[in-house]
Amino acid sequence: MRNLSQLVDVKRGTLDRRIFVDDDIHQQELEQVFGRCWLFVGHESQISKPNDFISAYMGEDPILVARDSKNKIHAFLNMCRHRGNRICRADYGNAPSFMCTYHGWTFATDGKLVGVPGYKEAYFEELDRSQWGLIEAAQIYSYKGLIYATWDKSAPSLAAYMGDAAWWLDLLVDRRDGGTEIIGGADRWSLNCNWKLGADNFAGDGYHFPITHGSSINVGAVRQNQGDTASQANTGRHPVSVGNGHNVLGGYDGPGVNPSIRSRSSSVITDYYAQTIPELEARLGAVRGKQAAINVANMFPNFTWHPAPLVRCWQPRGPGKTEIWSYCIVDKNAPPEVKAAMRRNHTLTFSASGIVEQDDMNNFIQVTSTSRSPRGKNVPINQVMGIGHETKHEFLPGTISPANVSETNQRAFYARWQEMMNASSWSDIHIDPKTTI
Ligand code: FES
Ligand SMILES: [Fe+2]
Repeated sequence: MRNLSQLVDVKRGTLDRRIFVDDDIHQQELEQVFGRCWLFVGHESQISKPNDFISAYMGEDPILVARDSKNKIHAFLNMCRHRGNRICRADYGNAPSFMCTYHGWTFATDGKLVGVPGYKEAYFEELDRSQWGLIEAAQIYSYKGLIYATWDKSAPSLAAYMGDAAWWLDLLVDRRDGGTEIIGGADRWSLNCNWKLGADNFAGDGYHFPITHGSSINVGAVRQNQGDTASQANTGRHPVSVGNGHNVLGGYDGPGVNPSIRSRSSSVITDYYAQTIPELEARLGAVRGKQAAINVANMFPNFTWHPAPLVRCWQPRGPGKTEIWSYCIVDKNAPPEVKAAMRRNHTLTFSASGIVEQDDMNNFIQVTSTSRSPRGKNVPINQVMGIGHETKHEFLPGTISPANVSETNQRAFYARWQEMMNASSWSDIHIDPKTTI
């Protein structure tokens, strides 16, 4: 295993570009990061009935998330235990079992191998079927409808792993009685960029907003806050590094001037949020009731949420390619016209066809591309903004930047990445304690 301490210099705020293009680093990442972290795999609403299933990914491992006939949720490697064929090619469905299309081994939704053609005549009943069930994630847990899994049985509990990220995530998933649901499945597309570039942008890069999204602002797809300039973008929001590699572009200006509400294009949505703030405040308390905004955030390593409203994963496909899985998430008890408006907003802004999404994507592609260029690859990336100015807010959890834009969050993201890449086990990885209740 390669020690990567030289490649990420958190104190000086520089990154070696090899972390975006190097094959060996990428392979190490699939083991050290994606093989050990809690990863988002789907939403309970996608598998609400016994024997419902969805296909998803944990890093580059295809998985099957299934609710078995007894209502227990599992995440399995989507791979037959015979010769390794993928056992399910459907995106979603309902089935009591999965028959491999190669030789017909059949697995139940609890992962057990329940059918082997030729078991008697060809295997002479000597195959121990109990040993050849599907490979299952070591831990799986659902947080307010969002399902996460990890391959590492020594990983801390999901609650400990999330830490204070949950406090911010609640503003998206715990606004109302009934929780949330996903509309449709994942909107998916791929980009020729490294997965970390999407994750570090949504981890709280307010700096790019007025420049990258200038054209979207000009055509009215998103609204820039009054008085914002390139150096003072996102008034009312601050980068907040919440620990354990999780980062939020969070705000505390009160709901009336809430940036994420102001940036919405549909009054159906803004009215809905305004009307439901009292319910949110009753559920989450006065601080979040006032704060009220759904933030832009990234939970380490690759799970993002955003007020589009969406949750998404930046799925690696080799060092130079990323598959984005973006899901529109809404309050289950929202009226149908609000859900429809949110779905439209997600599609029109942040999705495969999203006008705002297009602004971002080419930047990520070009950063990856210049990381391969013979001269460019030797030039470090600069993330120095705001070093040494991080502080604590009087009541918001996390380390906050006093300026509206800062690279605090990017440094925290890559510091965690480096820590995980070098650590031999979870016992070497620090866990920031949760400070909120
Ligand atoms: S590979 Fe699945 S039954 Fe042979
Ligand atoms: Fe952006």
